[in-house]
Amino acid sequence: MQQVQAVVARAKGAPVELATINVPNPGPGEAVVKVQACGVCHTDLHYREGGINDDFPFLLGHEAAGVIESVGPGVTTVAPGDFVVLNWRAVCGDCRACDRGEPWYCFATHNATQKMTLADGPDAGTELTPALGIGAFAEKTLVAAGQCTKVDQSARPAAVGLLGCGVMAGLGAAINTGAVTRGKSVAVIGCGGVGAAAVAGSALAGASPIIAVDIDSKKLETAKKMGATHTIDSSQTDPVEEIKRICAQTYRGADGADVVVEAVGRPETWKQAFYARDLAGTVVLVGVPTLEMKVPDLPLIDVFGRGGALKSSWYGDCLPSRDFPMLVDLYQQGRLNLDAFVTEEIGISDVEAAFEKMHHGDVLRSVVVL
Ligand code: APR
Ligand code: ZN
Ligand code: ZN
Repeated sequence: MQQVQAVVARAKGAPVELATINVPNPGPGEAVVKVQACGVCHTDLHYREGGINDDFPFLLGHEAAGVIESVGPGVTTVAPGDFVVLNWRAVCGDCRACDRGEPWYCFATHNATQKMTLADGPDAGTELTPALGIGAFAEKTLVAAGQCTKVDQSARPAAVGLLGCGVMAGLGAAINTGAVTRGKSVAVIGCGGVGAAAVAGSALAGASPIIAVDIDSKKLETAKKMGATHTIDSSQTDPVEEIKRICAQTYRGADGADVVVEAVGRPETWKQAFYARDLAGTVVLVGVPTLEMKVPDLPLIDVFGRGGALKSSWYGDCLPSRDFPMLVDLYQQGRLNLDAFVTEEIGISDVEAAFEKMHHGDVLRSVVVL
């Protein structure tokens, strides 16, 4: 057991606080990671606002890279000193989805079994719920060894840690779920951190055109830097008509994009994605809707008439052991600009301020560096 500083959300809606926590020594199948960097994701804010569950207090942070400090009995995949990116879907390897060779659908994922606890104050000893089973706004955290993927140790932690959540979700939505390849046309609706990563992934795959859509002109500028060939401000122009026009210019007879990635999570953008795809094109939904949202009322003949596929992408359908080392290598080779997602490096006591900045839209990612 050791004590470290960490960012804790004690109660619904209350600002997060720095607290001292107890981190147990790793048990069987577990590892303690010395965290070097952890991005601030919308999901951390959802936890704090009580939008995920009521298991307060939460230990926030889940988009992280660090160095393995110690491992428990039976751990063979990582060793002390390894530089790792953490993932929140350590698959079981033994369920229907895993057997079928699609582990990204595994719903028997596992986390560390021992609990980290608050170390001081009136509620000392209370068990913490780590965000997405990670809890990496902390000097050290306890995770399952399967949540750690070893990558090139010379890579910048603040950049590659982002592969642990939002950037992987967007890149994977394009490359894994949408099967974007060279010669395909792609439209990305919503170019925040996730959508910008979908643009970057499409550029990496050699897609063309890559059409970025957003209502915020700053996001469109960023998308251009990530490889967008065209941008559409959908607060000014009907994006469906414009996507169809651009695609028809490039590919004779095209009636939309081969792949449309929806990275907002709203019914109106869902509908735009649905109609902006070419006949037999693919819609990939990566933006997360709220519980109340409904599929817009559409003529069934439009669903029948366009064919194609409507897919959702969860964590970019990634396989961390396959995708993280590959994407880190592409970053190291200068082919994937992960640095462009790091708007600012902040300290561990600045997480609350980073939540505030999320509302202004100037930040792709604030990253806590330890
Ligand atoms: N049309 C187009 N773009 C929109 C619209 C709209 N009607 N409404 C919002 N946007 C844009 C915003 O301007 C912003 O650039 O969508 C983007 C959302 O980006 P962020 O808030 O930074 O969120 P991000 O981290 O990218 O996540 C997007 O994916 O994984 C999910 O939970 C996540 O639902 C969220 C989505
Ligand atoms: Zn499984
Ligand atoms: Zn996240």
